Parts: sequence; structure tokens; C-alpha cells
Amino acid sequence: MPPLTHALAHGLGTPARNIVALSLVCLLLGASTTALGHGDVTPQEVDTKGLPDLGEAPLMENPFRPGNQHDDYHELAVQVGESGYGGNCAVCHGIQAMSGGLTPDLRKLEEWDDEYYLQRVSNGTERGMPAFRENLDQTAMWAIKTYIESVTP
Ligand code: HEC
Repeated sequence: MPPLTHALAHGLGTPARNIVALSLVCLLLGASTTALGHGDVTPQEVDTKGLPDLGEAPLMENPFRPGNQHDDYHELAVQVGESGYGGNCAVCHGIQAMSGGLTPDLRKLEEWDDEYYLQRVSNGTERGMPAFRENLDQTAMWAIKTYIESVTP
């Protein structure tokens, strides 16, 4: 190949590749925006200020439930949980945890489901429940559980 043609081919090759790469990026971006846009499930941070840091090791029971280890924080946990629930769960599980029937009614969870609850919220499920372990710490998850219990008849 004469050097000029070579340079041209080369010079042309790069932008063409860039365009392919760019459209790929656009595709990916488009896809993720759609995923986030769907039902507005962008996780909202939960401000747990004032509540004890429960650490990493998963507790087996809601520590804020009356009679449990941190029940003196019960009121605050309900408040923190209410906003945490509103920002992260209500879109799918309903206002005040009243399910419209398409998702499980979280008010039906029993005390002995605590371990299951934490595990579900952390890991999500393959059938439409997102995992929250990257966005909510254990303190926030139990605060949300405490709120759900407070609106359970
Ligand atoms: C995008 C919708 C969506 C969001 C947001 C969501 N969930 Fe779910 N959740 C589901 C679906 C769908 C299921 C049922 C999944 C299945 O059966 O595998 C479920 C199941 C659960 C379960 C298991 C209940 C049972 O009876 O088996 C718990 C606990 C739960 N969600 C808690 C939460 C909490 C707490 C939040 C907020 C931090 C939340 N979810 C946010 C859709 C969602």
C-alpha cells in the first residue's frame, strides 16, 4: 500500500471505530437510563443519624422492636424507616406497605421472618426485587422494618 493511502485508510479507520464505540456507549447508557427510569427505583440514601451503628454482621432479629436490644430507639427508627421506605420500597410495595397485590404485602411478615427479611432486602430476588446491600446498611434496613411493623394492623 502506498504510504498516503495507508495513512488515509488508517486515518479513516480510527474515527469509524470511534463511531462504533460511541454508539455502543449510547446504547448501554440508553439501556441503563431506561432501567433506572422504570418505576423510579433509583435507591435513595437513608439518613440513619442518631441510630446505633449495627455493624456488618447480620442480626437475626429486628433490634428496634419493643423488647429487643435497641428498643429505646424505636420511635426514631420508625421515623427514619418511614422516609427510607418511602424512597426505596413504596414504589413497588405500596404506600404504608399496603400492597396492590403485585408484590408481597410486607405487613404479612411475622417476627420469625426477620432473618429472611434482611436476606431478601440485601440480596433481592430474580423475580423483580432489587438488591439493596450496596445502598442501605443494616441499620437502615431494620429501621425500614420497624416502620413496616408500625403500620401493620
Ligand atoms: C422494583 C420493585 C421493588 C422494590 C423497589 C422493592 N421491592 Fe421488595 N419485592 C419486590 C418483588 C417483585 C418481590 C417478590 C419477589 C419474588 O417473589 O421473588 C419482593 C419481595 C420482597 C420481600 C419478600 C417478601 C415475601 O413475603 O416473600 C421483602 C422482605 C421485600 N421485598 C422488602 C422490600 C423492601 C424493604 C424494599 C425497600 C428497601 C423493597 N422490597 C423494594 C419488588 C420490589
